[in-house]
Amino acid sequence: MTAAELDPLRSWLQSTTGLEADLLGRQSLERAVRKRLADTDGLTSADYQRLLMQDPAEQQMLIEALVVGESWFLREPRSFSQLVDMARRQSQRPLRLLSCGCAGGEEPYSLVMALLEAGLSPQQLEVEAIDISAVALARAAEGSYGSHALRGMELRRLQRFFDPDGQRWRLRPEFRGMVRFHHGSLQQRLQELPGGWQAVLCRNVMLYMNDEARQDLLRVIAGRLAPDGLLLVAAAESALVPSAIYRRLDGGHRAGFIRRNGPPEPAPATISTPRQPRRSVPRLAPPLEPDTHLMAARQLKQLGQLEEALVALRRCLYLDPRHREALILRAELSSALGRHEAAEQMRRRLERISRQNP
Ligand SMILES: C[S@@+](CC[C@H](N)C(=O)[O-])C[C@H]1O[C@@H](n2cnc3c(N)ncnc32)[C@H](O)[C@@H]1O
Repeated sequence: MTAAELDPLRSWLQSTTGLEADLLGRQSLERAVRKRLADTDGLTSADYQRLLMQDPAEQQMLIEALVVGESWFLREPRSFSQLVDMARRQSQRPLRLLSCGCAGGEEPYSLVMALLEAGLSPQQLEVEAIDISAVALARAAEGSYGSHALRGMELRRLQRFFDPDGQRWRLRPEFRGMVRFHHGSLQQRLQELPGGWQAVLCRNVMLYMNDEARQDLLRVIAGRLAPDGLLLVAAAESALVPSAIYRRLDGGHRAGFIRRNGPPEPAPATISTPRQPRRSVPRLAPPLEPDTHLMAARQLKQLGQLEEALVALRRCLYLDPRHREALILRAELSSALGRHEAAEQMRRRLERISRQNP
């Protein structure tokens, strides 16, 4: 593909997600677009560009093809010991924490594990997590992990927090229910959520952003942290944190920062969301939107993971039993898997809904 064909897509990606195509891997954008062109029945790159600008589903597909979702439990353990120290010093409860770019839930669930082990009760913790990948959030909702994500975890921890799940381990529902997941870009979601977090983890996300996007993101986080709130980045990113906004934590982990005193950055006036009520009891399921599950299902279908796509669709339909697109896709996937009875049931449900709401 020519530079003229790729440049508008590169700019779109940068302005929507802060991600810099070249930092995601050599030719990653070109490869992803070529694959999308192949999957969309011979669209030209000019057609594709138009489609992308208009179609949120296509935008999500491209993002899914580009993001790097690698993560594992208790990655860089010093981040978690730093948080435990902070939790012991701070008396404010509930302790409100945010994981930015939470991938399949490994990071926010690690927060839960570390702080419960440090003696906090579930009611003393409010953990939120944001990711732009619907597929990653579908994995987080499922909470089932293999040896890669669980590398190095002590058996005693595994047994306390997980149930065996075939060759894998599944986080117990009471712990899965302690994280509130949000789908979308950090740039958008950070502004919409109420903020006031005592700690924000933003690790291994900024590596893929250019300097400007990184600075913008860190400035927004500074404005959304509680006074004296803690920012934790990955060790490899610690040199990227601007000293004009943050100071390194005294005697702490070199990737831990406190916002410098000064007025917090105002959130843009354009977006305002009513503050959500505080929870005193943890929820039993991560409250993703039905459409996030649908997006995950579409992407999983593209990847040929039809069983996983059906799980995502069941979640979507559990939240919105009348979701037409989910019913259509579930019928299609059930047929493709030879489950004709299930496919027929979905079609009947659709007909009923169409009769009730023509
Ligand atoms: C490499 S993983 C890091 C996961 C975890 N923070 C860790 O350190 O193990 C990066 C995650 O950030 C997400 N991500 C990248 N850019 C994002 C953005 N602009 N908004 C929200 N999530 C983003 C990706 O989808 C991916 O799941």
